[in-house]
Amino acid sequence: MTDRLEGYAAIITGAGQTPGQMIGNGRATALVFAREGAKLVLIDRDLDSMLVTAGLVEEQGGTAVTVQGDVSVADDWSTAVATCVESFGRLDVVHHNVGVAIGDGSATSVEPDDWARTMMINSGSILLMARAVLPVMRAAERGVITNISSIAAIAGNPSPGNPPITYKMSKAAMNAATQQLALENARYGIRVNAIMPGLIDTPLGVDLGAAAYGLDREEYAARRHQRVPLKGGMGTAWDIANAALFLASEEARFITGVLLPVDGGQSARIG
Ligand SMILES: NC(=O)c1ccc[n+]([C@@H]2O[C@H](COP(=O)([O-])OP(=O)(O)OC[C@H]3O[C@@H](n4cnc5c(N)ncnc54)[C@H](O)[C@@H]3O)[C@@H](O)[C@H]2O)c1
Repeated sequence: MTDRLEGYAAIITGAGQTPGQMIGNGRATALVFAREGAKLVLIDRDLDSMLVTAGLVEEQGGTAVTVQGDVSVADDWSTAVATCVESFGRLDVVHHNVGVAIGDGSATSVEPDDWARTMMINSGSILLMARAVLPVMRAAERGVITNISSIAAIAGNPSPGNPPITYKMSKAAMNAATQQLALENARYGIRVNAIMPGLIDTPLGVDLGAAAYGLDREEYAARRHQRVPLKGGMGTAWDIANAALFLASEEARFITGVLLPVDGGQSARIG
């Protein structure tokens, strides 16, 4: 264990993961934050998967308290914040990792109820987070919020439904909320940034995508590798976790309002 987050208490949302052979972004971030000294409150609606993450954190000598909850429910945010303050006496970092795409696809196929649910979970949840988290951070005159967005927010594709329209809209809203929260809270010493992952080799990105297109995992993964400019193809959840570690740490003390692509150059590409 090293100490880039020594003494910190962090909330991580979506700390379980979609089943699959690779590690997910939320779980990898929990392990990296704990390794660097942070004590954790994990939130996920999937208790079993979150408990696996908590067990892995404890195996490497860290501390993780779990809150089963839904980020689109205000009371669950209040519970998570209260749990963090009661357990650790402070709240330094909120890493908002949950992202879904319910019934998503092209604009002509998405049902309005699915749109509303996805928008609420991916971006409306930021309002609930703000109400629960900001009073504590403002009182402490410090804090870091990192939202996990996507390069889908800023780039598109000619193929219908890729990226799916609601997901794209929700991540664009997340980016907008990130910038506004950053500016509104800068005077309190609170930093708010977003990470925009590109193509990452996670169960959410690959296993679910392969299933949606009726392809086997290896074939779908190979297609994704080819789309990334940087040698090596897709990133991994550790790349997202390491970017999150930097943003959460004191090394990023002058960085706020940033929408950071972590994408092997994909969002810089034309054609
Ligand atoms: N993998 C990629 O290629 C890629 C690319 C761009 C962005 N992202 C983003 O990365 C983030 C997720 O990465 P991951 O690998 O951890 O995903 P994951 O699906 O493996 O894990 C997400 C966790 O969130 C939980 N969850 C879902 N809805 C919830 C809710 N309403 N309340 C509480 N918990 C909920 C799930 O139970 C799951 O355990 C998302 O925001 C996603 O949009 C991923």
